[in-house]
Amino acid sequence: MTDNNRFNAWACAGKGKTLAKTNELTLKQWDEDSVELNITHCGICGSDIHTMDSGWGPTLYPCVVGHEIVGVVAKVGKNVSHLKVGDRAGVGAQCGSCHQCQNCKEGNENLCMNNFVGTYSSKWPNGDKTYGGYADRWRGDYRFAFKIPDNMSSEIAATFFCAGVTTYAPLKRENVNSTSVVGIMGIGGLGHFGVQWAKAMGAKVIGMSHNDKKHDVALELGCDEYLVTSDKEAMAKYRRSMTHILCTGTGQDFDWNTYLGLLHANGHFINVSMPDWNFPELHPVVFVMNQVHISGSAIGSPKEIEEMLEFAATHGVKPWIEIYDMDNVVQAVEDFRAGKPRFRIVLKN
Ligand SMILES: NC(=O)c1ccc[n+]([C@@H]2O[C@H](COP(=O)([O-])OP(=O)(O)OC[C@H]3O[C@@H](n4cnc5c(N)ncnc54)[C@H](OP(=O)(O)O)[C@@H]3O)[C@@H](O)[C@H]2O)c1
Ligand SMILES: [Zn+2]
Ligand SMILES: [Zn+2]
Repeated sequence: MTDNNRFNAWACAGKGKTLAKTNELTLKQWDEDSVELNITHCGICGSDIHTMDSGWGPTLYPCVVGHEIVGVVAKVGKNVSHLKVGDRAGVGAQCGSCHQCQNCKEGNENLCMNNFVGTYSSKWPNGDKTYGGYADRWRGDYRFAFKIPDNMSSEIAATFFCAGVTTYAPLKRENVNSTSVVGIMGIGGLGHFGVQWAKAMGAKVIGMSHNDKKHDVALELGCDEYLVTSDKEAMAKYRRSMTHILCTGTGQDFDWNTYLGLLHANGHFINVSMPDWNFPELHPVVFVMNQVHISGSAIGSPKEIEEMLEFAATHGVKPWIEIYDMDNVVQAVEDFRAGKPRFRIVLKN
């Protein structure tokens, strides 16, 4: 008899290992809170790469990454009412939380203090490992599986579940509006959403890139201006000019003085990037004297995901994607590492 818990996946067996196809891994044990998806699409996120490389600490190998998952619902447990077989659903970077702690109760499940279950390299409360979307099936908690709006295609929907919400949530939280001047640092998968959200919220948007290669495409995307962060003269012109900076990526030459100096008094530096290295030391004078706020933001809550999907539909926000066959995932990862995508790769089964 075939084991119905086994699934086909592209797994990473260890640090530095190329992804390889396997059907040896098993989905989480079925329970009545479960939803099972036949995966149709999965985006490639920078976090997939950090995890494959054990960049944030030891990864739970073998690991199946991918947390911008869309699929067709194949099975639902008795406790599931918002999805039925045949619906399309999406899953992001989180697939479980305790639902009991203060943060969960306040609707900030993404900040769960007891048991944040990551979509990969993590464990379900019963001890089963979590596996992500470089695969043909996903099974997990219905509370982190979202119905895809009927008017949104699955390939377009996928990247909203990580890149989309990670950039939407902090810009919304920090009240970006028509009086804002927003710098988006790093115009990649997250950054290209950041540009579009900030524009849709009414802001003037400065695309901030580490070289001049993306000038034309950044303007096409909607940036009002383009700033090359390695160009000292250009950076000096923008001193004290921005209300918000959203940092989605930067090099190890990053220094607080330069970047916080771009902000108006009381401005916001919001970091969502999670490189494998530490930010440099921060001298208190640098943020005290201009009264700037430094914050971070982690994906988004289920409520923010729902809100983002509605906002995207209202304002016509859409990712720029390049589709690769799932079977071509090794090439796709290589291209991602080389910074080729404009701006997000979506794998298709
Ligand atoms: N906070 C969260 O919840 C959350 C969620 C998802 C992802 N993340 C993290 O966010 C980061 C970005 O993810 P992503 O998927 O958007 O990756 P990505 O598509 O590779 O984009 C990152 C961008 O950073 C810039 N960059 C990269 N290397 C650089 C360098 N050496 N010097 C200067 N700039 C550089 C590049 O933009 P330019 O060429 O325009 O400079 C690049 O396009 C990753 O660290 C990821 O783990 C965090
Ligand atoms: Zn991600
Ligand atoms: Zn919790």
